[in-house]
Amino acid sequence: MTDLDTLRDHLLAAAAEAPALDSLEAVRVGALGKQGQVTGLLKSLGGMTPDQRQAEGPRIHGLREAVTAAIADRRAALEAQALGRRLASERLDLTLPVDLAPPGRVHPVSQVMDELAEIFADLGFAVASGPEIEDDWHNFTALNIPDVHPARAMHDTFYCERTVPARTDGDGQSPSSNVGAADAGRGERMVLRTHTSPVQIRAMMDGPPPLRVIAPGRVYRSDWDATHTPMFHQVEGLVIDRDIHLGHLKWTLETFLKAFFERDDIVLRLRPSYFPFTEPSAEVDVGWHLDKGRRRLGGQEGWMELLGSGMVHPRVIAACGLDPAEWQGFAFGVGVDRLAMLKYGMDDLRPFFEADGRWTRHYGFSALDLPTLSGGLSA
Ligand code: DAH
Repeated sequence: MTDLDTLRDHLLAAAAEAPALDSLEAVRVGALGKQGQVTGLLKSLGGMTPDQRQAEGPRIHGLREAVTAAIADRRAALEAQALGRRLASERLDLTLPVDLAPPGRVHPVSQVMDELAEIFADLGFAVASGPEIEDDWHNFTALNIPDVHPARAMHDTFYCERTVPARTDGDGQSPSSNVGAADAGRGERMVLRTHTSPVQIRAMMDGPPPLRVIAPGRVYRSDWDATHTPMFHQVEGLVIDRDIHLGHLKWTLETFLKAFFERDDIVLRLRPSYFPFTEPSAEVDVGWHLDKGRRRLGGQEGWMELLGSGMVHPRVIAACGLDPAEWQGFAFGVGVDRLAMLKYGMDDLRPFFEADGRWTRHYGFSALDLPTLSGGLSA
């Protein structure tokens, strides 16, 4: 065994057995550092005869490579060990203690809208929206309510002044930016939308059918009494597809109302009616029964009118650029506040919008109590 072999065995063993990164570094400096043993040998090559160099060169270079590799292997092993120890010993607790009674309450209208989204998502409906400052065309004309139509008078519309700011800020948030530049360019009279039905038009013009959407949101009419406020909420439903018929409408409404009121004994009665944007049109009544002198939904001791619906009028489908011979659908519209009043037992709509904390504490919901179909909508 030559000196070189002895040195090689010694250095490889020292590297392999180094107990920690700092002792491994000492091995490296001792062998490969400026004053290191291997470095010294490499330098000595310079003073050798060509014959000696030819014989010793490969052995010394081989020694350097072997030591370098042994140190790299040991470093990787020691680093892996260190990481393993850190992972085993360190703990980061990301949980916060939960305040089970946070002070804020979820307003019943928000709660009901969440419930609606949950129910209709399960039926494959997406949630659509449209501007609250709407143009006359979307709110009326495209829905087959022409200028002279008496339905316009029925809506007690809030009209905006003719000058409508075109969208320039582009943030999509402020009320004025609800008004699309294209809409303003049309030079239409702008209105506060009187119903969520214009979202039908926007949904049909936006996306190619088949479509299944609900559109919950604020609507406005000049009205004020115990069950009418100038701003209130509706949810629109729209399905456009091939071969859609009244049976789909009835099944969807029945499934929705049973899930919403969390009762299996909900009975519907479709009563022929008239809306300009549907043909045929039906008003939907829901059966009630008396419970301790109070009307409760379910059963059929009596009927109360709940919502409007029908098969989308071919003229409305055509106004959106679709071929009514190919595409049919149904639509419905219902008051969200009314749904909340019926489900949670309020008789007066006005306090909904008076921002009285006592009312909200009484009728509101816990923010932690998200409505889910599996967990109970209003548990
Ligand atoms: N937009 C109607 C209203 O506010 C409600 C309505 C009736 C909506 C029938 C519909 C429908 O989609 O098919 O009075």
